[in-house]
Amino acid sequence: MRLSDEVITRSLGDDLPVGIWVARAPGGDFVYANRAFREIMGMEARSDVAAGEYVAPYGICTRAGELYPENRMPFIRALEAGTTVVVDDIVIHRSDGGRVHIRAQARPVSHEGLVSHVVIVFIDITREVEAESRLRMAQRMESIGTLAGGIAHDFNNLLAVVQLVSSSLSSREQDPAKLEALQNIQQAADSGAQLTRALLGLARSSSGRPLLARVQLNEVVAGVEQIVRRTLGSHISVELSLASRAEVMGERSQLEQVVMNLVLNARDAMAEGGALVLRTRDEPAEVVLEVADTGSGIAPELRQRIFEPYFTTRTGVGTGLGLATVFSIVQGHGGSIAALDNAPSGTTMRVQLPSAKA
Ligand SMILES: Nc1ncnc2c1ncn2[C@@H]1O[C@H](COP(=O)(O)OP(=O)(O)OP(=O)(O)O)[C@@H](O)[C@H]1O
Ligand SMILES: [Mg+2]
Repeated sequence: MRLSDEVITRSLGDDLPVGIWVARAPGGDFVYANRAFREIMGMEARSDVAAGEYVAPYGICTRAGELYPENRMPFIRALEAGTTVVVDDIVIHRSDGGRVHIRAQARPVSHEGLVSHVVIVFIDITREVEAESRLRMAQRMESIGTLAGGIAHDFNNLLAVVQLVSSSLSSREQDPAKLEALQNIQQAADSGAQLTRALLGLARSSSGRPLLARVQLNEVVAGVEQIVRRTLGSHISVELSLASRAEVMGERSQLEQVVMNLVLNARDAMAEGGALVLRTRDEPAEVVLEVADTGSGIAPELRQRIFEPYFTTRTGVGTGLGLATVFSIVQGHGGSIAALDNAPSGTTMRVQLPSAKA
């Protein structure tokens, strides 16, 4: 039997997909909350709290994670403004550990010129906020790329002059103290040059689309393995586990850079030795590349941040541009990358690229 119109409108509040909360003005005494309100908040509405004491019981926080100021709460703001206000910087810290980003629309309801209640609609905007922060990240990579490209090129030329002059001076220098100082200058210029090369790589990888050609990913992996084998040392074992075919559309030199950076990171994570496995898999729509190590692993809270430009835990040694470069190359190829936990120890970096077959 169908529900009658009367029944559906009577239970309308609980059937709405947005949270609703109503309180009496001006004190904020609780009147009503619907089912979606309880679902968003992760708790029953509290009838024992009024204006000025909302924040703590509901875990209402700012985006920075501090308790939301009571005098900025939507209920108060709507009363002050005398009209509908929209507040969308609220984050609910639920007691079950969940975090929900909220947009609240608070509307004062008046009767004969007197505000009697405030009705607040709560919308869960967590997905939108997260998508926005991913977009911001992509834009930041893009602007770093542009900035880097401009500066790095000129800077490299300046550094070349420093390198040239200091090396020609030191070839004629007899005084050991001055010679040492000149060597310091050369070392600094060398690391500067290394940094600008990394920046130039990042700029190139994030500027526009790669030049697409058929690339055998297996050949790329085997080629990089040959180059880096010497630098890995005997305390790291290497195993290749390659699909019979693994063909992608892409730019070979960029893909080499991806494999190279991932392998070097794996090496850096295994200072005490370990096992490195380079794997390719050919799936119907995509080609998967995995670089697995048995090294230090990545703490879960850092797993998102490792792709940020300049994020490094190898202070003083790393530039933090390796994975940022990898990230933007993979994105440019229409693929994705993730860091997987490699229990009991280590990390697997998984790159997924559209297959050339697709
Ligand atoms: N395989 C891995 N195992 C453990 N940690 C890793 C691994 N790969 C990356 N990381 C972490 O991610 C951080 C960022 O890596 P990224 O390659 O961007 O910079 P870096 O290696 O520190 O510097 P650079 O690439 O310039 O040498 C590293 O400092 C490290 O903390
Ligand atoms: Mg690195």
